[in-house]
Amino acid sequence: MIISSIAAVSENNVIGKDNRLIWRLPGDMNYFKEMTEGHCVITGRKNYESIPSKFRPLINRTNIVVTRQKDYSAPGAIIAHSIEEALLLAKERAETEVFIIGGAEIYSQTMSFVTKLYITEVHHCFDGDAFFPPFDRKFWKEISRIPMPADDKNQYAYTFCVWVKNKGG
Ligand SMILES: NC(=O)c1ccc[n+]([C@@H]2O[C@H](COP(=O)([O-])OP(=O)(O)OC[C@H]3O[C@@H](n4cnc5c(N)ncnc54)[C@H](OP(=O)(O)O)[C@@H]3O)[C@@H](O)[C@H]2O)c1
Repeated sequence: MIISSIAAVSENNVIGKDNRLIWRLPGDMNYFKEMTEGHCVITGRKNYESIPSKFRPLINRTNIVVTRQKDYSAPGAIIAHSIEEALLLAKERAETEVFIIGGAEIYSQTMSFVTKLYITEVHHCFDGDAFFPPFDRKFWKEISRIPMPADDKNQYAYTFCVWVKNKGG
């Protein structure tokens, strides 16, 4: 099972503020949907709750919410009490590629064993309080880069990047 992270990251590594996304980029939302549909997604409890209730659980995906709260429930989602348990739940479903979808705490705790990164670079700097963890690019190879211009629907230019971890990295 491939373990991937998918995130939209600003030029100064910001991913969110006050438990919400800062930018509105429908082009990136569509990309996120296309990449993750049909797969298990693993989300931190805070990120899950930041998704507007009408959009959660994310459709056509097995939503696995990670929380330390023993009595937490999220209708339509599966609860895991550790990241290891979340990965096991995905494996039990014969998943081929599981997606870590944030937020900051979950990206940071999984960075050491994730082997594929789908990073949408957002070409702007933002004031925020949630950050994507730094990753040493010398251990990673960029296999795809698709620049997208700003337009009337997408306020900022952005680039879809896919990175894979080097063998032994
Ligand atoms: N730009 C992007 O692509 C993107 C993507 C996703 C999220 N975001 C942003 O990221 C921010 C949220 O990130 P965050 O770091 O504050 O929260 P988070 O990672 O979404 O969730 C943190 C919560 O996850 C649970 N948790 C963390 N580690 C755990 C572990 N090892 N075992 C069990 N449970 C664990 C805890 O839940 P309990 O407190 O319930 O125990 C913890 O409070 C928001 O601003 C959101 O918009 C941005």
